[in-house]
Amino acid sequence: MKGIILAGGANTRLFPLTLAVSKQMLPVYDKPMIYYPLSLLMLAGIREIVVVSTPRDTPRFQELLGDGRSLGLTLHYRVQERPAGIAQAFLVAADLIQDEPCTLVLGDNILFGHGLSQVLQAAAARRGGATVFGYEVEDPERYGVVEMDAAGRALSIEEKPARPKSNMAVIGLYMYDRHVLEVARTLTPSARGELEITDLNNRYLSRGALTVERLGRGHVWLDAGTFESLQEASELVRSIQHRQGWHIACIEEIAHRMGLIDAAALAGLAEPLVNNEYGRYLMDIATGKRVRA
Ligand code: DAU
Repeated sequence: MKGIILAGGANTRLFPLTLAVSKQMLPVYDKPMIYYPLSLLMLAGIREIVVVSTPRDTPRFQELLGDGRSLGLTLHYRVQERPAGIAQAFLVAADLIQDEPCTLVLGDNILFGHGLSQVLQAAAARRGGATVFGYEVEDPERYGVVEMDAAGRALSIEEKPARPKSNMAVIGLYMYDRHVLEVARTLTPSARGELEITDLNNRYLSRGALTVERLGRGHVWLDAGTFESLQEASELVRSIQHRQGWHIACIEEIAHRMGLIDAAALAGLAEPLVNNEYGRYLMDIATGKRVRA
């Protein structure tokens, strides 16, 4: 299974914050936003990941994350010339995806909660078809919306419907089988000129090959695309980290817990950061001072 983080877009909703900096590089409390979607792919067990971003921002992500080796990952970078749709990410990264299963995560989606890695790993292990994740929200008209029958099977998915058929939003994390590139190549631009992720999901749905995994109240999902939600995400991460002492989306810690890097390598990553709380947190894990409850 390969992974894609889509971290481009015009990001005009966050001007002037994003006039010179990519949205997905902005801080969500103590780490760059892209750490959160990256942590989801890592927790799902994905090791080879492509970051897709704009011509301006791709080199900055490369500067931030490098080739991934220090985290036990292989990271690639591909440029999306203009924001022509979320599903275009598969075409932009086609040479790396080929006929392999692939998980796509949007660079502004923040998701965490109890037992999430098991949910992600189980979904990634599913053979054939696509999996999307549903989350109940108060404002479904802002999202892709899935309607389900009593048995939890998807009946329809609509993109930002004026009259949503349910409260179940489709979050920005999508898992596909090895046919995804071939299916993405059959899409045509929508009325707004984009290759829509909802159209791709509907292709799988019409073949009876779409699973909806519902995430319940034990999980938090936010997309940090507005001033309000960006601030809300930072506050939430801060409160939980301060209360529990455990970090959310700490990619170095996850790499260690997933067995990708040993304690000595983690200490090496912590070393240049020990002047602050983030670095000391990593060092405490590396030296065994902080042990998982
Ligand atoms: O957050 C979940 C929602 O994400 C889903 O429920 C919707 O079905 C899905 O269409 C998407 O809705 P958004 O309104 O958030 O889509 P947006 O066009 O804002 O794109 C999401 C992110 O992807 C955004 O951070 C910018 C980036 N992007 C978007 C497009 C269209 C790109 O990097 N390239 C693109 O071509």
